[in-house]
Amino acid sequence: MDIAAWLRSLGLEEYASAFRDNDIDAQLLLHLKAEDLKELGVASIGHRRKLIDAIADLRDEDARSSNVSVDRPLPAPTAASPEAGAERRQLTVMFCDLVGSTALASRLDVEDLREIIGAYQQCVSDTIKRFGGFVAKYMGDGVLVYFGYPQAHEDDAERAVRAGLALIDIVNELELSDPLQVRIGIATGIVVVGDIVGFGEARERGVIGETPNIAARLQGLAEPDTVVIGERTHHLLGHLFDFRDLGTLEVKGYSEPIRAYQVLRPSILDSRFEALHGERLTPLVGRENEIEALRHCWQRAKGIEGQVILLVGEPGIGKSRITVAVLEEIANEQRTHLCYFCSPHHSGSALYPIIRQLERAAEMSPDDDTSTKLDKLETLLAATSTAAEDCSLVSDLLSLPSSGRFPTFDLSPQQRKSRTLQALVRQLEALAGREPVVMIFEDVHWIDPTSLELLDRTVERIRMLPVLLVVTFRPEFTPPWSGQPHVSMMTLGRLGQRDGVALVEHVLGQQDLPAEAIQGIVERTDGVPLYLEEFTKAVAEMCAEGDHAQSTASPASLGIPATLHASLMARLDRLGAAKNVAQIAAVIGREFSHDLLAAVAPYAATELRAFIDQLTSSGMVFRRGTAADSLYLFKHALVQDAAYNTLLRRPRQQLHGKIARTLEELFPGRAAREPEVLAHHFAKAGQAARAIDYWLIAGKQAAQRSANLEAIDHFSRGLKALEALPLGSEKDWKELALQTALGTALISVHGYAASQTGAAYARARILCQKFGDAAALHATLSGEFVYHFVRGDRAMMRRLTKEARRTAERTGDDAFQLAGHRMDGITAMYDGSFIEASHEFETILSLYDPDRHRPPPVLYIHDPKFQRLPTWRSSSGFSGNRTPRGVWPSKRFGMLKN
Ligand SMILES: Nc1ncnc2c1ncn2[C@@H]1O[C@H](COP(=O)(O)OP(=O)(O)O)[C@@H](O)[C@H]1O
Ligand SMILES: [Mg+2]
Repeated sequence: MDIAAWLRSLGLEEYASAFRDNDIDAQLLLHLKAEDLKELGVASIGHRRKLIDAIADLRDEDARSSNVSVDRPLPAPTAASPEAGAERRQLTVMFCDLVGSTALASRLDVEDLREIIGAYQQCVSDTIKRFGGFVAKYMGDGVLVYFGYPQAHEDDAERAVRAGLALIDIVNELELSDPLQVRIGIATGIVVVGDIVGFGEARERGVIGETPNIAARLQGLAEPDTVVIGERTHHLLGHLFDFRDLGTLEVKGYSEPIRAYQVLRPSILDSRFEALHGERLTPLVGRENEIEALRHCWQRAKGIEGQVILLVGEPGIGKSRITVAVLEEIANEQRTHLCYFCSPHHSGSALYPIIRQLERAAEMSPDDDTSTKLDKLETLLAATSTAAEDCSLVSDLLSLPSSGRFPTFDLSPQQRKSRTLQALVRQLEALAGREPVVMIFEDVHWIDPTSLELLDRTVERIRMLPVLLVVTFRPEFTPPWSGQPHVSMMTLGRLGQRDGVALVEHVLGQQDLPAEAIQGIVERTDGVPLYLEEFTKAVAEMCAEGDHAQSTASPASLGIPATLHASLMARLDRLGAAKNVAQIAAVIGREFSHDLLAAVAPYAATELRAFIDQLTSSGMVFRRGTAADSLYLFKHALVQDAAYNTLLRRPRQQLHGKIARTLEELFPGRAAREPEVLAHHFAKAGQAARAIDYWLIAGKQAAQRSANLEAIDHFSRGLKALEALPLGSEKDWKELALQTALGTALISVHGYAASQTGAAYARARILCQKFGDAAALHATLSGEFVYHFVRGDRAMMRRLTKEARRTAERTGDDAFQLAGHRMDGITAMYDGSFIEASHEFETILSLYDPDRHRPPPVLYIHDPKFQRLPTWRSSSGFSGNRTPRGVWPSKRFGMLKN
């Protein structure tokens, strides 16, 4: 840096010679303080201030460019959605600390210490970046790292642990005067991340939640050069690593002890499928067609017509499960099986899947020394009479110095690669020469380029060999082999309803779950086996912990199982700024229209169109209809949930409120057609009173269409929402309207005598009495009367009749009067007082005016005339004649029990 030029840019070139004469270089410049400037001869306070500010800017720039700052937070991440602000998400947090740094500080000169810390921080920064983590903060020699923010990956927990293990090795290898050691703690949990916290210089994008504290505590518990993880992280890792259970540890500041595990090493299981799901494999459901097709291909392959099956499908759809089924299917046949697993962490390691397969086939263990490994390799290769040159190439591939066992060849890298690939193909030919071979090549979307080249040659070569090759991959990979005659593609779709239920039941095993809970899981998970499994496990665990209420709660309210969180978030984060649109859409619902989204989202039309195109091209959202009035649908309910759950409570409530208001103001037709949608948004916006009004409208609308189950649901939601209202007459009036309307729907679904029916009317009558409101009472009395009538409670019938009479007298309302006569007539008739009954019914006929007395629909009010006619006709034969002992009706109708 040219200091003179810098001074010139500040208009302070007069000091250039003083800086030069005092040997101030670019590095020292960053550390100059006010006193130093004074000594340099900068006498003016104004000039000193100007220089101090400019030096602070230089320091900022320096920190940003080196990504290693001293006690200074890094700039906010921008990769995910810079404008999205704070989010609620699952995060794996790593805390890494240097061992014995205090002792180091007391021993070393500060400049030496600075150098060591600088090297260490650089090394942390590089390693974390390599594993996709984000260095949030340097705190002296401690480093706080996030995995899962700003960009989530489906395997964040695994990345954190791999980064931790790598970091230990790399720090150990630093060539410093004092060798360094680190301790690493890792914890996973839900946090709020992205808030700007602190002030001034200390501003940073922080994390709120206990996870960073737990990570720091676990770090404190770790022995030097070890990684210690918490329980949730452990749960996410399955068998990907070998662990030592440290048991439950008392940790300062936590009432509950914390379970901790030390990570020993990556496990030797190569199959991610086996490591993550292998423990309790769910019995296969469905997929009959696929298995049948594979069986057929196997038969052809055995007839030396090699076959390649390309098995494609989204993550969790069941590709690996099918490969396991294939191997099981032919387990008893004479065959060789070869399994290759690509790894997301080794897409750049040449021939990684092949190396690991060879190590496995030779049964090498990480503890074997080189010569034992060579022995094992030799045994393996001897079985196929591999030529000496090939042995040499293979041992080289496995990085085993053959120390004279095999001939060495002086080859260029290009030649070596080419000959190695040839040797590997020869190896396959030799195996296929002995017996049919089934080859599984898993997760080819992560394949390294050299393996892909080998796979290319293999596909070509096996056409004339007894080999069945099954290649699995996700839709983002485009296989270069389709179109060849011996290659067929198989796309795995979602499981159907029946298979979904079967899968849930398999996972539950002995455990029982109500049918509606199972149905809920199946609906929520859209037939993706992985989602089905994880969701069921989450529900089952909750029930096992005694939280039975949750088993019947809507699956949406369960949130997202931790095991699925990262992979769902990874998809959302990949959207970048379009994620914000996904979040807004998620608040609207699984299905959302373009016009409503446009009215709610704060984007210009073209920008929004581009974002939506991104959502559809990412496969996260389907489009229906033409561009003008498009309707969109989230492909997975769980992706919608994930987007929704990232929003913090307040912005989410505001969005719901905005959607409800927009519907009311701009889409009145839709609001009138679907009042329940407005009710939902107002409820979620925390505006209970408005929500209740819409639940009532929605319920009545449904009842008018005889959709009584829906009506009950709407009214019940309204009643639930009442809990949020303050006590008072507004609340009571709303409840009265809901209870009265609910009673009618309950009669239709559960019958007159159902206890719910009685409860709704009884509660309504109490509220009526409170208000002294005759009209409302009219609406409830009929319902409550019939409830007691059907149950044969004549005492209650008489009581309610009296109440009707009294109210009729008080109000002079003739509708009420008719109701009183009706109730009296019925009561008298069933008491056996037929003359009295006859009198009551005749009075009804004389007073009845259809225009005034015909009741409205929805409310349960009897038409008095209609009531009179059938009832009286059936019993008029007895008119004037009391039956013996006056007991006939109650005897004949067994239902009339007192
Ligand atoms: N047809 C099926 N029957 C039972 N379980 C299945 C089925 N398909 C997938 N699964 C289970 O669902 C989970 C995800 O399947 P997996 O094969 O790993 O998906 P993919 O390899 O496509 O990512 C696994 O635990 C697997 O056992
Ligand atoms: Mg798989």
